[in-house]
Amino acid sequence: MVMAKAWVIGKTFDGAPTESNFRLIEEDVPAPKQGEFACEALYLSVNPYERRSSDTAPVGSPLMGYQVARVTESKNSEYPVGTVLQLYCGWRTRSLINTKEIPKVVKMTKLPDFGGKEPSLALGVLGIPGVTAYLGLLDVCEPKAGETVLVSGSGGALGSVVGQIAKIKGCKVIGIVGSNKKCDWLKSLGFDHVFNYREAKVDDALKSAAPNGVDCFFDNVGGELSYRVLQHMNNFGRVNVCGAMSSYNYGDKQPLIPSPFIACMCKRLKIQGFSVLDHADKFEESRTQILKWINEGKVKYREEVQHGFEKMPHAFLTALKGNVAGKIIVKV
Ligand SMILES: NC(=O)c1ccc[n+]([C@@H]2O[C@H](COP(=O)([O-])OP(=O)(O)OC[C@H]3O[C@@H](n4cnc5c(N)ncnc54)[C@H](OP(=O)(O)O)[C@@H]3O)[C@@H](O)[C@H]2O)c1
Repeated sequence: MVMAKAWVIGKTFDGAPTESNFRLIEEDVPAPKQGEFACEALYLSVNPYERRSSDTAPVGSPLMGYQVARVTESKNSEYPVGTVLQLYCGWRTRSLINTKEIPKVVKMTKLPDFGGKEPSLALGVLGIPGVTAYLGLLDVCEPKAGETVLVSGSGGALGSVVGQIAKIKGCKVIGIVGSNKKCDWLKSLGFDHVFNYREAKVDDALKSAAPNGVDCFFDNVGGELSYRVLQHMNNFGRVNVCGAMSSYNYGDKQPLIPSPFIACMCKRLKIQGFSVLDHADKFEESRTQILKWINEGKVKYREEVQHGFEKMPHAFLTALKGNVAGKIIVKV
């Protein structure tokens, strides 16, 4: 028996959460029996989208998210000690896994070797954010060389990769971010124009950055900002509704925004929701392509590492506020 730590919901979320919404507990992890193995978390991811699923979760429910873990004790020959895994098993330091009983929701995979790069990349550029960027851009936005691609929330783990892939595809790329530091970072990655939505007048900034209109809009933010962007789209433009950062804290009290349907009809836009969970079959090939681009210096990434499992709520709140450029992870 080993003692592990886990974070659970301590107080129901209502609006923007604070550290008082989270509770740290201890739990016993029994030694593995035949067919089982135990693993310890090395890195954990905090994801803004988990805010939505926590809305209705009762007090005491685990906070969910991906982690990279290493097998520490094993009675399962397929998972010897030292195997590195990615799994979706909540904010906990240790887990006991029985591969026969493991629910599908745990989404466990053995991690490939990233050629000496840290396995933490499986939570960011080589994980859900990177693969969502890749598939969401190519499958939904279908960018063609010479077109203009606009990415909202582009200073985050996902948006920063979208813009770089659009550049690889020969597009002009515009980013929208919430700080001047993020503007500088994205320009250093090759974005053609980046503006700060907190300072600029969005319509003026778009007229100046995209005088010929926007062909592809990769939207991570939603709300009023997205409505404004639609007014600058070209006929037959493509919109990937990938995230809604501006609305996660509102729960069922969403603010009203003007209808997008008039722009959609007049400009014959394709507006499509996207979930990477529908594309499990393309995950490994997408990851391989992104790793190739990283090795060629065509895709760059930024990780902000917070140290200590106790930092999980702080890291999550930081991610929700969008205060960090790139991917925030917690190293245990
Ligand atoms: N559909 C899918 O399959 C899928 C998969 C993974 C993630 N997602 C979604 O994709 C989005 C991006 O994920 P991520 O991992 O890149 O998250 P992230 O690293 O936390 O980045 C999100 C960005 O959104 C910006 N933002 C936050 N609140 C905003 C607001 N009110 N208005 C405008 N911008 C705001 C933040 O910074 P600034 O405000 O400074 O710009 C931040 O850089 C999220 O909405 C996430 O839920 C979707």
